[in-house]
Amino acid sequence: MKSKTESFSEEFRGRDIITLDSIKVRLLFFDSLGAKCSSVLVETPDVSILIDPGAAGLQPSFPLPREEKIRLREEAFKRIRHYGTSSDIVVITHYHYDHHVHPSRIGEMACLFRGKTLLVKDPNQWINRSQRSRALKFLSEIYRISGGNEPFEGLMETSRFKMTSDPFERHPKTTSLWRRSKGKKLKVYQAKKRWFEKIVESWKRNKWVRIFEVGGTKILFADGKEFTFGNTRIKFTLPLFHGQFLDNVGWVIGLTVEHAGNKFLFSSDLQGPIIEEYAEWIINSKPEVIVADGPPLYTYGFMIGKEDIKNVIDNMQRIICEARPSKIIWDHHICRGIFKPKMREVYSCAKRKRVNICTAAEHMGLKPLIERVKPP
Ligand SMILES: [Fe+2]
Ligand SMILES: [Fe+2]
Repeated sequence: MKSKTESFSEEFRGRDIITLDSIKVRLLFFDSLGAKCSSVLVETPDVSILIDPGAAGLQPSFPLPREEKIRLREEAFKRIRHYGTSSDIVVITHYHYDHHVHPSRIGEMACLFRGKTLLVKDPNQWINRSQRSRALKFLSEIYRISGGNEPFEGLMETSRFKMTSDPFERHPKTTSLWRRSKGKKLKVYQAKKRWFEKIVESWKRNKWVRIFEVGGTKILFADGKEFTFGNTRIKFTLPLFHGQFLDNVGWVIGLTVEHAGNKFLFSSDLQGPIIEEYAEWIINSKPEVIVADGPPLYTYGFMIGKEDIKNVIDNMQRIICEARPSKIIWDHHICRGIFKPKMREVYSCAKRKRVNICTAAEHMGLKPLIERVKPP
């Protein structure tokens, strides 16, 4: 174990890259290497894009001493800082500490953000309470390290929320499944709907943060938008649920990066994907290379259930058969516990269709960490 995790930067030289013709994707750190993290650096001839440069220690139930988890989290930050400092653009798909940097550490990670264009998840709408509060802390710290002298509250204004996108219309298949449910499941659906109605009210009530530019650092809200840099197009989705439909964990934004007919897709935390419409987004985007989040099997029985797992298996088989990408890095939540036996159908389907699916660690020539440690 020790020899496999000691000096990542040396060990991975050259094996951490996936090359499309004109796009280079460098895998920075992932859960399969030992920290909650899903960070990549995407380089095209026009621009260099750092995606989700956060990292957090693995969960307490992961069979590894606490000190080792801290050490691995620091390895993640080391790689992110080493490769991410020279990026032009930083993308933050949502406000969880394994995706954006904890506000207490932004000072030491300032080289990642200062003077850059940040394309971030909108902190004002389609966001739950905890992510909103983290977003405000994160953005105010970015403002401060970029030289902003005024109180951050000066950037707040009255809400401009309008319901422009109905989540029930945007997820017709998933909505109809929930609506047809009975008993306990129907009650869960009704509770989710009540939660959603309340959160919408908070978007109308709360003050909104404005986009800002200070000391060369530019903050733009990316939800549903497209940005062009030379011949490179970065296209973001509208907000997507973080896992299950109407999940109170909140929303994320996914994205594609396209250059000269090559396309890379980053799913962010879709946890599978569990939702069928998100599998369709991936298929319709026709990416050659996908970095996707797998299901949090370690939360089975209290956060995800049998039906979610079945959905993930069906959705991944559809992605493999219909999108036929050359490479899928399937990592993040899925690597927090033993996963291969439960996902056997996905791996056999990929083998049959000759689609290369693996974790970031496997791409780099290592076993995922969960397969290298002693079970609890
Ligand atoms: Fe997340
Ligand atoms: Fe995450």
